[in-house]
Amino acid sequence: MIKLLSHLSFVAITSPDVEASVEFYEKQVGLTVVDRIGDDVYLRCWGDYYRYSVVVKPGAEPSLDTMAWRTSSPEALEEAAKAIEAKGVQGEWFEGQGIGRAYRFVGPQGHSMTLHWDVEHFHATGDDASIYPDRPSRRSRHLGAPRQLDHVTIAARDVDAFVAWYTEVLGFRFMARTVLDEAPISVFSVLTTNEKSHDLGVVLDGSTRDGRVNHYAFWVDQREDLLQAADVLMENGTPMEYGPSIHGIGEQNFLYFREPSSLRIEMNTGGYRNYVPDWQANTWKPSQGSNNFYRNSAMPMSMTESFPPADGPSATEEGVPDEIKDALLNPYAQHGRG
Ligand SMILES: [Fe+2]
Repeated sequence: MIKLLSHLSFVAITSPDVEASVEFYEKQVGLTVVDRIGDDVYLRCWGDYYRYSVVVKPGAEPSLDTMAWRTSSPEALEEAAKAIEAKGVQGEWFEGQGIGRAYRFVGPQGHSMTLHWDVEHFHATGDDASIYPDRPSRRSRHLGAPRQLDHVTIAARDVDAFVAWYTEVLGFRFMARTVLDEAPISVFSVLTTNEKSHDLGVVLDGSTRDGRVNHYAFWVDQREDLLQAADVLMENGTPMEYGPSIHGIGEQNFLYFREPSSLRIEMNTGGYRNYVPDWQANTWKPSQGSNNFYRNSAMPMSMTESFPPADGPSATEEGVPDEIKDALLNPYAQHGRG
């Protein structure tokens, strides 16, 4: 198989209050609005190579409208569509904003993915131009502003099946997984299309809703930027949901917070690069610190919420089995620091 996908190019999300979300991305996260087309707002980080990386669309609930990957060539776009349809999934071709002829499909567990080759490269002019020829625009003056979009983490009822389909059909590399200490249940996996430890994550979804998203993430250059982002958010009255800390899997520093729609956003930095074509994914246990490597605090219960919300307002009412819920909420209680 030729290499089909190159990297995550944008996420489109829905928000019940588009203007509140957009104001948050501009004033608190440090993104810039580049286009308003109809009711949709297109935003970018200062270091994104293409015109936009986040689209905010109106919707009754917070959700992932689609996650988009750029293919590795025009031919790869055609090959990817063929591979998807060979699996019995029928997508559709459409003309996308700034991405030309694109292919959109809904995967086996209800997640919309958009594939495209064409892009609009971004080159700022005037005061926004950078003296670095490789930078699409100058570094943001907003403290802690992310350089780029980094990854998206969806929620799926069968994590292993999700991994199997996306690795086989689209050539994602399977990088690591988490299986509960108490039972052989896969609760998390990471996939990648490039040297990053992941650009697509999968968490176990205990709800009955298809196609949910747990969070999406931006990249900052270094841990100090992440701490400054945390500082800015706190000064502005935005609570941090979890972190700053460090994931065992991927070894990234992380920080989670919510945008006004309640959708979860992450800031990431650090971690390893991995180019190994025949990498064998390790199976982590939560007790090894797969999520919080320091193992000095329990993950808040709110982190199990994905979007759109399940029928009930809490994880308990989402029907997550107790053994999974307990392990997700406090994976270290029964295992000490081991
Ligand atoms: Fe993440």
